[in-house]
Amino acid sequence: MTAFTKTSALMARGAAFLGSEWAILCGAMSWVSERHLVSAISNAGGFGVIACGAMTPELLDAEIAGTKALTGKPFGVNLITMHPQLFDLIAVCARHGVSHVVLAGGIPPKGSVEAIKESGAKVICFAPTLALGKKLLRSGADALVIEGSEAGGHIGPVSTSVLAQEILPELAADHLVFVAGGIGRGEAMAGYLEMGACGAQLGTRFACASESIAHPAFKKAFFRASARDAVASVQVDPRLPVIPVRALRNKGTEEFTAKQVEVAKLLDDGKVDMGEAQLQIEHFWAGALRRAVIDGDVEAGSVMAGQSVGMVTKEEPVAQIIATLLEECEAALSRRQAA
Ligand SMILES: Cc1cc2nc3c(=O)[nH]c(=O)nc-3n(C[C@H](O)[C@H](O)[C@H](O)COP(=O)(O)O)c2cc1C
Repeated sequence: MTAFTKTSALMARGAAFLGSEWAILCGAMSWVSERHLVSAISNAGGFGVIACGAMTPELLDAEIAGTKALTGKPFGVNLITMHPQLFDLIAVCARHGVSHVVLAGGIPPKGSVEAIKESGAKVICFAPTLALGKKLLRSGADALVIEGSEAGGHIGPVSTSVLAQEILPELAADHLVFVAGGIGRGEAMAGYLEMGACGAQLGTRFACASESIAHPAFKKAFFRASARDAVASVQVDPRLPVIPVRALRNKGTEEFTAKQVEVAKLLDDGKVDMGEAQLQIEHFWAGALRRAVIDGDVEAGSVMAGQSVGMVTKEEPVAQIIATLLEECEAALSRRQAA
């Protein structure tokens, strides 16, 4: 790829850490980030990440093997911290010599960061606040991702721009911090790199790449949607804290409201405890996302998408998307430095 020298200089730390040409991660997307998209991203100079989601250790084993067959470049594996077999999944990654493990979905349980590091892999964690970011680094995280509420999928309450202002000036000089959420163009990447980020993570922008196995109907829904269609789910019962999910508004969004009422009733009747209630909610999402991504049911399924979905207008190969992002980023940095 052509020399994007200014971008390359600002991404140097992130790229060296990932072992990729560019410090552009394709954030793990359940059902979407499997061997084809992940290998395409890594082969194009970015950094692909397998979404383990609710996979069993056996399935993850096969997915990693399948990805290795398609790329010799490094890639990561994203594990959800509340997975009941988290330590078995870590062992699968270790057996394969996976170079980077991303821990998502909450504070890593005791011993998990250590177990990953013992295998020689690097650990990447999500930092929802500055205080937690510092704590995660103290506990051994090698790099952080800060992800704002513009993102698709499960989201926190604070926007990317505010998280970046709170966290980058404090941590980015001495630590590796990647920025995610709402990044659709290279100009935005340039802004965060100038603030000290070592790279960017994008999901929505890559979900409909030619190499993505997402159903044509899922991709079409993305191409048609604008930013305001990607809405965050609402919590209907104050006793049942649910992590909001950003997805395209449809019948499935309404069904989620009904699901929450149903689970809240089970809680009321003492039929489930809080942990089980939250697990039921998560299972609902996993099933609904599969329906949309794999079966193409974009009405009743969950079409998880970030607010940058309006900037996704056509199917393009991953290499083209990365080239466009780099061109936009480099042009923005050149304009600023020339001024
Ligand atoms: C369809 C979809 C599924 C996702 N699934 C996961 C997941 O399983 N684990 C995770 O850590 N993040 C997940 N994410 C978040 C992405 O990894 C990424 O951080 C996010 O998409 C970045 O924001 P953007 O969508 O604005 O680019 C998902 C996002 C989307 C759009």
